[in-house]
Amino acid sequence: MAKRTVREIALAGKRVFVRVDFNVPQNGPGEILDDTKIRAALPTIRYLLDQGAAVILASHLGRPKGRVQENLRLDAIRRRVAELLGRDVQKTSEVVGETVTAAAAALQPGKILLLENVRFHPGEEKNDPELARAYASLAEIFVSDAFGTAHRAHASNVGIAAFLPAVAGLLLAEEVSNLDKALLNPDRPLVAVAGGNKVADKIGILKNLLHKAESLLLGGGMANTFLHAKGCQLGRSKLEESSLAEATALIAAAADHGVNLCLPADVVVAEEAVPGAQAEVVPVNAVPPDKMALDIGPATRRQYSEIISGAGTVIWNGPLGVYEIEQFAAGTNAIARAIAASGAFSIVAGGDAVAAVEKAGVAAEISHLSTGGGATLEYWEGRELPGIAVLQDN
Ligand code: 3PG
Repeated sequence: MAKRTVREIALAGKRVFVRVDFNVPQNGPGEILDDTKIRAALPTIRYLLDQGAAVILASHLGRPKGRVQENLRLDAIRRRVAELLGRDVQKTSEVVGETVTAAAAALQPGKILLLENVRFHPGEEKNDPELARAYASLAEIFVSDAFGTAHRAHASNVGIAAFLPAVAGLLLAEEVSNLDKALLNPDRPLVAVAGGNKVADKIGILKNLLHKAESLLLGGGMANTFLHAKGCQLGRSKLEESSLAEATALIAAAADHGVNLCLPADVVVAEEAVPGAQAEVVPVNAVPPDKMALDIGPATRRQYSEIISGAGTVIWNGPLGVYEIEQFAAGTNAIARAIAASGAFSIVAGGDAVAAVEKAGVAAEISHLSTGGGATLEYWEGRELPGIAVLQDN
């Protein structure tokens, strides 16, 4: 990794401000539904404690927009971190201020303090330098382990780096090294699978991948827009008229670059995307006018799985159909299993695709499950992420 990491600095006896991404899904009563992101940050926290540092953790949760929102306090997260580490974790009920300063000053090596949700403070998302300075005053070193937040330029992950030596945590370093391995120096061929609904969200990535991948396999709602751009009538399928020109240009650019851009040959259709809907398989040029495409069909599954089986590297973001509903989950499940069976270096990114590999029971066969949603997509787009740019070079 081009950036300095926690392994390259002296930590004994130091107070360390660690920005983590504990933005985990919770239900109404505030129970944590999936603690993957918390578990992913544990190696850094353990490393810092083992080195004799005092650890101050900071994270956002949700989007409270600068105001205290009781259901977004970090108390359930504090309990989960304590449980997972088997250690006491103290927590403040404020983001900064006298009580926080006092708690940080009293923190002994080997101890952990979690700050309140940083997005309760109006200065956080504005990257307010005064708030960044207040965070920095709590510690002697800044560690960023919040890969999932690295595409944001906020006070606790970017502003603070102006005031303290700033290095990468182990999770952030691992994410960057895996994503770089897949895109900068991949085992060939590199196969990218992109699904999900919005072409507009993925167009930047697809353009970047035209210079890097041998095959792009498209599915999900966004494939409809590409199919329509090629002249298919898709009944009541969801389409983005506003992205048709971009889709047409991308199809032409793929041909120019010699990239194998694959679109579904058959689809699973129904009148509505609801459980129990009557589903049937049709070729993409025979979608009935009253139906909509909701998954890739069996011929497409076979074709995509075959391409994936010959890949050296596979990256995947976005489901291939409405995978939450059983009748429309086969495409997404087939891709998850094909990637797992391929033996390729594989990265699965984004909540839906990660949930799909977990549901298919093949998560252990994937080389890297990225904790980044938007951050991973922007990284794949080739953008410099502000939360990484501010860290010291190695
Ligand atoms: C995420 O969950 O993708 C990150 O925590 C970033 O959250 P945000 O989109 O609210 O900035």
